[in-house]
Amino acid sequence: MKDYFCGMHTENIDVKNILGLQLPTDPRWVNLAEMELEEILTDHAYCEQKAATTCISLIQRYPDRVEMVEELAPIVTEEWGHFRMVLGELKKRNLQLGKQRKDEYVNRLLEFQKKDGSVEDRFLDRLLTMALIEARSCERFKRLSEGLDDEYMRNFYRKFMESEAGHYTLFINLSEHYLPKEKVRKRWKEWLDFERELMKEMEVRGDRIH
Ligand SMILES: [Fe+2]
Ligand SMILES: [Fe+2]
Repeated sequence: MKDYFCGMHTENIDVKNILGLQLPTDPRWVNLAEMELEEILTDHAYCEQKAATTCISLIQRYPDRVEMVEELAPIVTEEWGHFRMVLGELKKRNLQLGKQRKDEYVNRLLEFQKKDGSVEDRFLDRLLTMALIEARSCERFKRLSEGLDDEYMRNFYRKFMESEAGHYTLFINLSEHYLPKEKVRKRWKEWLDFERELMKEMEVRGDRIH
C-alpha cells in the first residue's frame, strides 16, 4: 500500500509538469524571505502545525476510510516532526516563534471548497486542498533550496521540499483511490486554475511561505 501511495521520485521536481502548478513563484520572493528569517521560520512553523492538525481532522471526519486513516496517521507524526525541526532552527538562532498570522492563501482556498456538494464532493475538495497546499509549499521550498545564499539553509529546505512532494502525491493518490480518476482530474484542473488566479492577486511578501 505504501509504495502505491507514495512512489514519487523527488530528485527532479518539475513544478509545472509534475506538480501541475500553473504559475511559478515570483523570483523576488526568495530575496525577500532571506531578509526576514525570523518571520519566514515562524510562518513555516505554523504551516507544518496546520498540516498536522488538518490530517488529524481528516481522520476524525472520515474514520471509515481505512486506507486514508492508515496513510495519514504517520503523516501527522512527520508534519509534527517538521514543526519541531523549524522550532529547533529558531532556537538555534536565538529567534522567537512569533504569533500565528492570518493565512490569506489557505483561507482563500477554503472558500473555494464546495460547501453544498455531495459528501464525496466535499471529501474530494478536502483532499485536493491539501494536495495543492503541499504542491505550492514544495515549490516554495524548492525556490529556497536553490536561491538562498546560505548553503546550510539551502539543504534545510531541500529536505522539506522532498517531503512535501511526497505528500502532494499521497493526497492525489488517495483522491484517485476513493473517487473516479476522471472526476479527480477535472476538479484538480479547476483547483489549479483557481490557484493561478489567486497567486496573481496575492502580494509578494517575504514574511510568509505562501
Ligand atoms: Fe511538512
Ligand atoms: Fe506536508
